[in-house]
Amino acid sequence: MPDLTNYGFIGGGNMGEALIKGLIASGKAQQDHIWVHDVNPSRLVHLTREYHIQMSEDNVDLVRRCGIVVLAVKPQNMEKVLMEVGPSLSDQHLVISIAAGITLNKLQSAISASTPVIRTMPNTPALVMAGATALAPGAFVNEYHMALARDLFESVGLAVEVEEKYLDIVTGLSGSGPAYVFVLMEAMADGALRMGLPRAAAQLLAAQSVLGAAKLLLESGRHPGELKDMVTSPGGTAITGLHALEKGGFRGTIMDAIAAATNRSRELGSK
Ligand SMILES: NC(=O)c1ccc[n+]([C@@H]2O[C@H](COP(=O)([O-])OP(=O)(O)OC[C@H]3O[C@@H](n4cnc5c(N)ncnc54)[C@H](OP(=O)(O)O)[C@@H]3O)[C@@H](O)[C@H]2O)c1
Repeated sequence: MPDLTNYGFIGGGNMGEALIKGLIASGKAQQDHIWVHDVNPSRLVHLTREYHIQMSEDNVDLVRRCGIVVLAVKPQNMEKVLMEVGPSLSDQHLVISIAAGITLNKLQSAISASTPVIRTMPNTPALVMAGATALAPGAFVNEYHMALARDLFESVGLAVEVEEKYLDIVTGLSGSGPAYVFVLMEAMADGALRMGLPRAAAQLLAAQSVLGAAKLLLESGRHPGELKDMVTSPGGTAITGLHALEKGGFRGTIMDAIAAATNRSRELGSK
């Protein structure tokens, strides 16, 4: 019978590795309870050397050994993986997919049994244990399965449960969001460079300002507008900078970006 204390990773690339690292670092799983199979032999060598985890000779062997099966391949490889492991999955497994755009319906219909399936949308800061992941449960998922999945993604950051219909918006927000913030930090550093600050200092100060502001928002539980007001004094520098941002349509542009990315995710998902 598949063991729900064994994690099996199908695909050990960037995201698979981040999750394996998180599981070990958080103590949520021991190395002898983590299995991986990857078609790329150099990934297997790297993962087993670096993390001392177990290696499966193929995906079917992995599914036989592990109760929790994490599908961590690119979306274009998913059909092949599902055809391979679908018949071996039972209602005693928990399947967690991190592939963008592969719906619960698609996942579930490739699996013969009433296997619990959770579709997720993580983001790249999971690579540094500061990820944001949304989890959407399928029809056969219970509280215990959700707790197991939450444990996995909380080992690399924050996890939020949403209905599947919201995952396109999540893709436009936190899935794509790191790209917007990288551009924001680059622009902040370039602005300071333009005014004469050396590049290295500008980049460090821009990045730490974003990190600190995010931490303050998450830890204080206060509204971002209130925290913004704390930085702005009458006739001061911050309100002068904010005025320049508003003149450039900053907020409207960001809101448009989330809408555009959400719509693009919907478009890709319907193909
Ligand atoms: N990176 C992100 O920003 C991000 C964010 C959210 C979600 N995701 C999702 O996470 C998933 C993985 O992304 P990633 O960046 O980790 O990709 P990745 O680095 O390419 O890792 C995927 C790994 O799976 C291997 N693989 C391919 N076919 C396989 C098969 N049949 N069986 C076992 N292993 C196989 C690949 O080998 P080859 O390279 O030899 O093909 C590769 O080593 C994707 O579905 C993506 O949509 C990624």
